[in-house]
Amino acid sequence: MTSITKRLEGKVALITGAASGIGECTAKLFAEHGAKVVIADIQDQLGQAVCEAIGTSNSIYVHCDVTNEEDIKNAVDTAVTTYGKLDIMFNNAGVVDPIKARIIDNEKTNFERVLNVNVTGVFLCMKHAARVMVPQRSGTIISSSSLSSHLGGIASHAYCCSKHAIAGLTKNLAVELGQFGIRVNCLSAYGIATPLTKKITGLEKEAFESAMNLTANLKGVTLKTDDAAYAALFLVSDEAKYISGQNLLIDGGLSYANTSFNFFKYGEEL
Ligand SMILES: NC(=O)c1ccc[n+]([C@@H]2O[C@H](COP(=O)([O-])OP(=O)(O)OC[C@H]3O[C@@H](n4cnc5c(N)ncnc54)[C@H](O)[C@@H]3O)[C@@H](O)[C@H]2O)c1
Repeated sequence: MTSITKRLEGKVALITGAASGIGECTAKLFAEHGAKVVIADIQDQLGQAVCEAIGTSNSIYVHCDVTNEEDIKNAVDTAVTTYGKLDIMFNNAGVVDPIKARIIDNEKTNFERVLNVNVTGVFLCMKHAARVMVPQRSGTIISSSSLSSHLGGIASHAYCCSKHAIAGLTKNLAVELGQFGIRVNCLSAYGIATPLTKKITGLEKEAFESAMNLTANLKGVTLKTDDAAYAALFLVSDEAKYISGQNLLIDGGLSYANTSFNFFKYGEEL
């Protein structure tokens, strides 16, 4: 890749949940595009391995549990002390819980666990990113929301609620930080095969992708971690310099489809 095609040359990015799945893929893509990347996660061995794959001259691993404010403060400060600044914060760490058909079977402790990581974690990451970005008068913050921030009935109550909260935080913070030239957006993907989806469905990659393709609106293509990573790259790059407060759906139009109407079913002749 030439310096002309590198879209994040000279930028410093911190990605939570970067030891695996979407975060790992995004960390690698950001580094390919010239960014220095701080990999933050609780899976230390995997996180270190991602760093080694990227190259230790442009990445660093930091243990960071996003439910612990001190850890987040430390991760943000590590970015600044190691690379001099923080341009990009990607609040991506998240957890899922099993879908239970009836709300009465849902436990409060589990609901709070999901909200603690997915909402409080993102809030704290936003807070500490803002702490260093406001004095810089620059930066961009993105978070992993989900299609379940837009569509009911596709995830547990806790997960659905947590991802709606991320979209809300995104809008609010975009308004607050606009005065400093800081953009805030989130990403909402449909199902992508990762360790998270394996944990929740028990399905291996191919089986999960086939299941997703079956219910997808956009046919002939399978949603992958790089699709989320490229959307993230767009949102944090200068090409998106006037985009803020958005919840970018990576769903092939699924959220707009109500298949029960079935108006656009082509006949056999085509
Ligand atoms: N895979 C999908 O279908 C999908 C779709 C939409 C949104 N998302 C969201 O994308 C994000 C990444 O998911 P993924 O599919 O790549 O999952 P993943 O399980 O592969 O990656 C999540 C990472 O977050 C880390 N993590 C979990 N709890 C943490 C904590 N308390 N502190 C720090 N790190 C923590 C995990 O160790 C893991 O490395 C999540 O927020 C998820 O909700 C995933």
